[in-house]
Amino acid sequence: NNYCVIMAGGVGSRFWPLSKNNKPKQFLDILGTGKTLIQLTYERFASICPTENFFVVTNANYKSLVLQQLPNINENQVLLEPIRRNTAPCIAYANYKIQKRNPNASIIVTPADHLILNETKFLGVLSEGIQFVQDGKKLLTLGITPSRPETGYGYIQVSNKAVENYSDVYPVKTFTEKPHLELAKVFQESGEFFWNSGIFVWKLSTIQDAFDKFLPDIKYLFETILDKLDTREEQNFIDQIYPKCENISIDYGILEKSESVFVYCSEFGWSDLGTWGSLYEHTAKDNNLNAIQGENVMLYESKNCLVNVPNNKLVVVQGLKDYIVVETDNSLLICRRRDEQEIRKIVNDVKITK
Ligand code: GDD
Ligand code: MG
Repeated sequence: NNYCVIMAGGVGSRFWPLSKNNKPKQFLDILGTGKTLIQLTYERFASICPTENFFVVTNANYKSLVLQQLPNINENQVLLEPIRRNTAPCIAYANYKIQKRNPNASIIVTPADHLILNETKFLGVLSEGIQFVQDGKKLLTLGITPSRPETGYGYIQVSNKAVENYSDVYPVKTFTEKPHLELAKVFQESGEFFWNSGIFVWKLSTIQDAFDKFLPDIKYLFETILDKLDTREEQNFIDQIYPKCENISIDYGILEKSESVFVYCSEFGWSDLGTWGSLYEHTAKDNNLNAIQGENVMLYESKNCLVNVPNNKLVVVQGLKDYIVVETDNSLLICRRRDEQEIRKIVNDVKITK
């Protein structure tokens, strides 16, 4: 009954110039483990979810990348979006496919680009989470103790009393997606808030009811074709309806509004590999706290830098502090670490196919 939906349609613009439109970060070996982020994601869930119950939702342009990198996944498990519409339509699309296969499904929804260090603990949390959502109407998200006032995350305020029989699961009082900095500081200091990890567990019927209530237009677009079409007609239909879907994340569209949201508070070494800074945190550093990827890098009097360059490139850095230096075959980025969020805007200017 367990299904796993991997959301893999983002462009990872803050990881430019490594992450580009034609090959975003989920398809890259960002951590230098020999596996790409989507491969690590798939393997993480493979023990609790049969291979045939995976769906990868991604942009049509990335179909061959997915099939190449996840050879166990069948073509009909890769759900192709003609255009980016954020995570609510992505989840509605997967729901529609799962509905056809198994209306009693339990679903884990996960981003394709997260790092989880303690996988054993993580799997324990998930199996308890799946058990928890079985009865009643419960939307469960995994929550993480905030370590900084990050403005790129959702913040969940929890009730002070855990759910009966589940000592780490709390009813959600409020959910605030991407607060501004002042608010994020207040949230972090109060101790009542957790980060939304963006990893969700629910029954198909529960999330479908939530769509009925909060995003009915998106759900009905998919329902118009339920069971009627063959594969090819279905793809044509998806290509027609997808642009009509509202561009909205599941967080803004449902989680902020629903009163049936619960959070499983746990620590399993989680990180959203969203920016160069998050990669810096998770890579080994030299004595001067420089994180270096590349076999021919020479640093002199440099501190707290992240240098990510091809192995065949001799790169010499002198006297640089707190900088990101990233080179690919055709681009070079040199950016102050504290300004890394600016990369998103810079990328809009350069067009990230470059
Ligand atoms: N298929 C598909 N289509 N996937 C998408 C799309 C889309 O249009 N947009 C985003 N995704 C995928 C991304 O590739 C990523 O794996 C996941 O959905 C989440 O999207 P992000 O764009 O990375 O969201 P975020 O990081 O800004 O915010 C979310 O994650 C945070 C934790 O990492 C929210 O859930 C926050 O509340 C949360 O704190
Ligand atoms: Mg993210």
